[in-house]
Parts: sequence; C-alpha cells; structure tokens
Amino acid sequence: MLVGDQRQGIRNENRDFLHFTGEPLAWERRHMEQIKVADVSFAYKEAPNRLILKDVNLEIESGEFVCLLGQSGCGKSTFLRLLAGLETPTSGALTIDSVPIKGASLERGVVFQDYGLFPWMSAGENILLALKQKYPQKDKKELKTIILDMFEKVGLDQTVYKKLPKELSGGMKQRCAIARSLSVDSPILLMDEPFGALDAVTRARLQDLILDLWSKEEMKKTVLFVTHDVDEALLLANRIVVLGQSPSNIIYECRIPDEKRATRDTQFENLEVLKLRNTLIKNINRDVEKHIE
Ligand SMILES: Nc1ncnc2c1ncn2[C@@H]1O[C@H](COP(=O)(O)OP(=O)(O)O)[C@@H](O)[C@H]1O
Ligand SMILES: [Mg+2]
Repeated sequence: MLVGDQRQGIRNENRDFLHFTGEPLAWERRHMEQIKVADVSFAYKEAPNRLILKDVNLEIESGEFVCLLGQSGCGKSTFLRLLAGLETPTSGALTIDSVPIKGASLERGVVFQDYGLFPWMSAGENILLALKQKYPQKDKKELKTIILDMFEKVGLDQTVYKKLPKELSGGMKQRCAIARSLSVDSPILLMDEPFGALDAVTRARLQDLILDLWSKEEMKKTVLFVTHDVDEALLLANRIVVLGQSPSNIIYECRIPDEKRATRDTQFENLEVLKLRNTLIKNINRDVEKHIE
C-alpha cells in the first residue's frame, strides 16, 4: 500500500491511474443499465471563468459502443475525465443508474493514450495491482491465472508478464492496458484516444481486437471511446456523438445499427458510410468555422 507522499508523486506523474494506487475505491458493480449526463457544465478550477463544456446532455444505455468525436481541444478528454470521476462538474449531474458518479471506481475501466503503466513494475505486476483491489480474497497464483488468460485474449505472449513497460512496443503496452481493464471486468470502459500514439497497422489490429472483444457476449461492455478520427469512429461505434467547439456541447448524434457498421473493406466504398462520413466531417468543421467568424 502506498502512503500519502508516494501517492502524491504518482498523482503528478501518472494522475489518471490514481484508482490503482491504494485510494479508497467506490462500490463496484458488474452490471449497469444507464449512464446519464444531465445539463453538465464544466470549468477547470485554474480557469473558473472559461467553460469547457456547457449544458451537455447524454444518455448511454447498457452495451452501447459510443464514439465521442470532436476537434482537438474541444473538451473530449475533459468529458471522459468527468465520467471517470477524476473531475466533478461545475453544474449538472452525472449518474449511473441514478447514483451520482463520485471519484474513480472499479465499475469504470479507463484506458488512455499513454498506457498508464507504472514503469518500475513488470506488465504482470501492473495488472496484479489493479486485480488485488478487485479480488482481495484471491491469492497471487489465482490472479496470475486470470492475467495470463487475459493476455491470451488480447494476443499477448505469456513472457510479457515479466517484462518492464520499457521492454515492450507501444502496441504491446496498449494491449497490457486493455488486458488490465478487461481483467478487472468493469461493466463500463472509458477509452481516451487509446490508439492515437500507434502506427497505422498496430492501430488497425487493436481496433479489430476491441471490436472482437466487444462483440463477444461475455465481454460486452458499455464503451465510451474518444477519438478525433472520423474513420476510427465509423469502424467502431454503434453510436457517434460529436462535440462542438468549447464551450462545447453535443452538436450532432447518430446511431449505426450493427449490420450497417463500416468494415475495413467497405469503409471507403459503401455509399451510406461515405455519406455519413461527410456529414460527420461537415458538422465538426461547421462548428469550427462558426467559432472563427
Ligand atoms: N487541467 C487543466 N486546467 C485548465 N485547462 C485545461 C486543463 N486540461 C485541459 N484544459 C483545457 O480544456 C480544453 C479542453 O481540453 P481537452 O478536454 O483535453 O480537449 P480534447 O481532449 O478534446 O483535445 C483545452 O482548451 C485545454 O487547454
Ligand atoms: Mg484529449
């Protein structure tokens, strides 16, 4: 267990993984029906007069794969941090099944672009740290079995368990971060541009992995996936939500039934997909133009 000062060090260096560092965790659950964001506005404490989000309303039902699209700087990460419980709204409410979101919780797994692995621990130990909080009654051997099983599901070799993050490629590190989230088995997965730092081929492989895992009933999570990449959103989402420029709120939203979702092969050929792609780009840009005028 880490003590105050150590925790503060981690907070600065790796603040997004506070919930794996010994902070008390909120209650957890295996199932949820609805995430509700009601009239949420938000300004950072450092700049209280500058609203980043203004009157955002969104309801996400169990099992949805929602992509949140928007230009860089529009407030996507801020929105995700609110859902992760890492920030609190200036006004309005965020609830899960009517219970207000308060602090980080094992019910919400978070995956960030920078992997969030502690550099001094092996990949396995990083995941063990999270799992010990989820299953305090299980011994290390049992937990290792869960981790190795998850490694297999995300396409990682068992030797990765003992390797330090610096010995792994970006794609492998992100597979570890995904394995960690999935092994904790949170019903909600929040992903913030998780593949943004990866090369195109690795990125495509991980997109396929996420879709494959999501389509399996045993792993069906409710996902909020932040990206600024329209094509990534079209491949992954069954609902796309566009945030406008800050102070931002939702300026466009659409649902994509499973059978109409773009595939890597048809992505740039299917007319319906191309039409939606144009609509999404127009909406993102229209709001940018409005803000420049
Ligand atoms: N800790 C912070 N304090 C003050 N402003 C911040 C902080 N984090 C982000 N911002 C500002 O909030 C706005 C939205 O940022 P962010 O949510 O990271 O956007 P996005 O993820 O869409 O690129 C940006 O203008 C950014 O400069
Ligand atoms: Mg961001």
